[in-house]
Amino acid sequence: RNVSLIGAPTDIGAGARGASMGPEALRVANIGPTLESHGVQVVDRGNLTGPYNPWLPPVDGYRHLQEVAAWNRAVHDAVYAELKTGRMPILLGGDHCLGLGSISAVARHCKEQGKKLRVLWLDAHADFNTSELTPSGNIHGMPVACLAGFGPKELIEIGGFSKEHPAISPKWVRQIGIRSVDAGEKRFVHEQELEVFDMRYIDEMGMRHTMELALATLDANTHLHVSFDVDFLDPSIAPGVGTTVPGGPTYREAQLCMEMIADTGRLSSLDVMELNPALDEKNRTATLAVDLIESLFGKSTLMRK
Ligand code: ARG
Ligand code: MN
Ligand code: MN
Ligand code: MN
Repeated sequence: RNVSLIGAPTDIGAGARGASMGPEALRVANIGPTLESHGVQVVDRGNLTGPYNPWLPPVDGYRHLQEVAAWNRAVHDAVYAELKTGRMPILLGGDHCLGLGSISAVARHCKEQGKKLRVLWLDAHADFNTSELTPSGNIHGMPVACLAGFGPKELIEIGGFSKEHPAISPKWVRQIGIRSVDAGEKRFVHEQELEVFDMRYIDEMGMRHTMELALATLDANTHLHVSFDVDFLDPSIAPGVGTTVPGGPTYREAQLCMEMIADTGRLSSLDVMELNPALDEKNRTATLAVDLIESLFGKSTLMRK
């Protein structure tokens, strides 16, 4: 497999500063060489550039809308270019607003190639807010809604999509690990019938059953995109994120989740988002993220049958 690392050093959509340092922390944690040790051929494309974070309050329910749009256009173009040449893009975030640029590129690629798209959203949050529903105005809480066509023109049209023909259908998404959804967002998730495996579901049914269901409808023609918000993980093992929520997956649960994704053989693009080195302890969260990504690329203790 040929992988391209794309750094997007910004915290333009977040409520805390520091995710802009995420790409470098993942490199310091050896993401490139670690993937290579599993037979993956890695090219690091370096970092994208975009507007500086002006750190202003929200306007009409959006913080930094124009800057978020500029960053997402850059991400879209870079991810799309990799897919076009048959390489697997790994986006090193950056805050999760950039999932919009990444997944709009993947959706465009799938549309052109006649491929079925599945998005696995590993997160403590549903990121399904709109400008009317958001309590914060932070656009990292909105990318899933924008991809489904609920958002401002500047964002939903990236990749050549529109309100009438959005990048994705909510039906293509499986969310895992969710444990913080805002009041209005909760109603909207229900109304749009997002398939959410929340922490209660994982507690009751276990990670194995959860992932079996989440991965059940993949076939040979499916492009599987994983959007990994590092705040998916329990904060006791992953403190280096801006929006920690207690009660997340343990180390073992997260490993199994990644291993079961790897077993499908369908992983075709990946986002690693929200890592915030300013809040981390000696880069342990970045190191853990790289450890989990190893499993996502097939690391296993024994030979696999
Ligand atoms: N739901 C909250 C909001 O919209 C938090 C979103 C956190 N999102 C994230 N990608 N970390 O402000
Ligand atoms: Mn392809
Ligand atoms: Mn999150
Ligand atoms: Mn998120």
